[in-house]
Amino acid sequence: MADPRPFHWEYTPQPVQHEAFRITGGTALRGTVMVSGAKNAALKLLAAAVLTGERCRFTNVPEIEDVRVMAETLRDLGVVVDHPEPNTYEVAAGDVDWLFVPLEAAAKMRASFMLLGPLLTRFGEVIISNPGGDRIGRRPVDLHVDAMRALGAEIDYRYGYYYAKAPGRLRGAEVRFPFVSVMGTENAMLAATLAEGHTTIRPAAREPEVDDLIAFLCKMGAEVERTAPDTIEVEGRKRLRGSDHSVVPDRIEAGTFAIAAAMTGGLVTLERARCDHLDALVEVLGRMGIAVDCGTDRLTVDATTVGPGAYTPVDIETAPYPGLATDLQPPTSVLLTQANGRSTVHETIFEDRLEWMTELRRMGAEIDTPDGHHAIIQGPARLVGADVEISDLRAGASLILAALAASGTSTIHGGHHVRRGYENIERRFLDLGARFEHVLEGDSGTPA
Ligand code: UD1
Repeated sequence: MADPRPFHWEYTPQPVQHEAFRITGGTALRGTVMVSGAKNAALKLLAAAVLTGERCRFTNVPEIEDVRVMAETLRDLGVVVDHPEPNTYEVAAGDVDWLFVPLEAAAKMRASFMLLGPLLTRFGEVIISNPGGDRIGRRPVDLHVDAMRALGAEIDYRYGYYYAKAPGRLRGAEVRFPFVSVMGTENAMLAATLAEGHTTIRPAAREPEVDDLIAFLCKMGAEVERTAPDTIEVEGRKRLRGSDHSVVPDRIEAGTFAIAAAMTGGLVTLERARCDHLDALVEVLGRMGIAVDCGTDRLTVDATTVGPGAYTPVDIETAPYPGLATDLQPPTSVLLTQANGRSTVHETIFEDRLEWMTELRRMGAEIDTPDGHHAIIQGPARLVGADVEISDLRAGASLILAALAASGTSTIHGGHHVRRGYENIERRFLDLGARFEHVLEGDSGTPA
C-alpha cells in the first residue's frame, strides 16, 4: 500500500551530543541564585502564540534546549520566531503554511504535542507526530486526543501520526478527564479559546504553569477562568490578539537549588522563587529539620546547623499540584539519602521514574525499589564520586546533587538531558562555590 503521508519529511537523527559534568563534591554551597522562567510554562506560552496572527512577546523565557526546539518547530511551520535578546522571544504566526509537526520535533520533546490544540482550533487541521520525551515510562496522549474529539475534531492515527481535522470551528463542550493531566488540560484549554460556545474542563490541572497560561490567554482577549480549583471554563472567541507576558518563575528549578543547599550543608538564597508555589517541598524540608525562610519572591535554605546526614527521615508521595511534584521526586529522593534513618518514596504519577536510582546506588546510596512506584531509602549514605549516566532531565539534576555532596570526583555523562531544562547550570553552581566542570566527550566517553 502506498504511504498516505502527504509530506515526505525524512527523520534525520541528530548527532548524539556527548556532554558530561565533572563535579568534585564536598563544598558547602553559599550565595544567591536567580531562578529562571519556568520551562513548563514557557513551552505552552510559545504554543499559545499561534492562536493569533498578531505578534506576542515573552520575557523571562529560560535559555534551555526545549525552548530552542519549540522555537525551531514553530519556524518550520512558517511562524516568525525572533530572539531579540537573551530570555526574550517574539512570535508572529501570521502565515502558517505547513500544518505538520514532524517526528523530528516530537522525538526530541513531548511538549511539541502542545501544538495540537492551537493549530487545530485556528486552522482547522494539523498532522502531528506522536511525541517522545523523557524516559520515565509510558506517556500516552490519549487524553489530549479524546479532549479534541469532545470538542468536535475528527482524528485518525496512522503511521505514528495523528491526522486531526475540525469541520468548521471546534465546538465548546464538557471535557471530562478520568484523572488530572497537565498538558491534557492545557491543550483542551487552548483549543477551546477559539471554539464556538462554552467549554468546561474537569478535573483541570492546578499547576501554577496552567494559571500562567490562563493569565496570558486573558491578555490575548480569551475568556478563560478557573471557576473552581479543579474546573476551568472557556467561552470561545472568534479571534485573539497579540500580547506580552513574563514567564512565571520555575518552581522545579527553585526546588532543585534549594535541595542543593541542603545536600551540601550550605546557605543559599533563591531570588525570584515563588514560595507559594513550593508549599509541598517546603513542608517536606521542614519535616526533615531543614531551615527554610520564605519571603515574597525569595526563599533561603540554611543547612549550616542541622547538616546532611543528620536530617529526619520522612515518607514522601508525589501528587498533582498542590501535592509534591513528581519532577521534584528525584531531587528529594537524593536528599533522603542524607536523612538519619529509613525514608520511603511513593511515585504515583509516572511508571519507571525510579530507574535512575541504579546510578545513585553506584554512588553509595542504599536504596531498595520493590516495584516501579516505591523506594525505600536507608540513610545516612556516605556518597562517593562515580562515573554515572543520565537517563532523563530530572534524574540528571539529581545525580548532580548527589555529586555535589559526594567525596571525590564524579563524571556524569549525558549532560544534554540537563540542558533541556536548566539554564546555564554549570555557571550557576560555580557561582555558589561548587567545583563543577562541563566537558565535551568523544565517542568513547573520553574528553574530546
Ligand atoms: C507535565 C510536565 C512534566 C510533569 C508532569 C506531571 C510539561 C511539559 N511537562 O507533563 O514535567 O512531570 O506534567 O506533573 O509540562 N497520561 C495519560 N494519557 C494522556 C496524558 C497523560 O495516561 O493523554 C498520564 C501520564 O502517563 C501520567 C499522568 O497521566 O501518568 C499525568 O501526566 P500529565 O499530567 O499529562 O503529564 P504531562 O502533561 O505530560
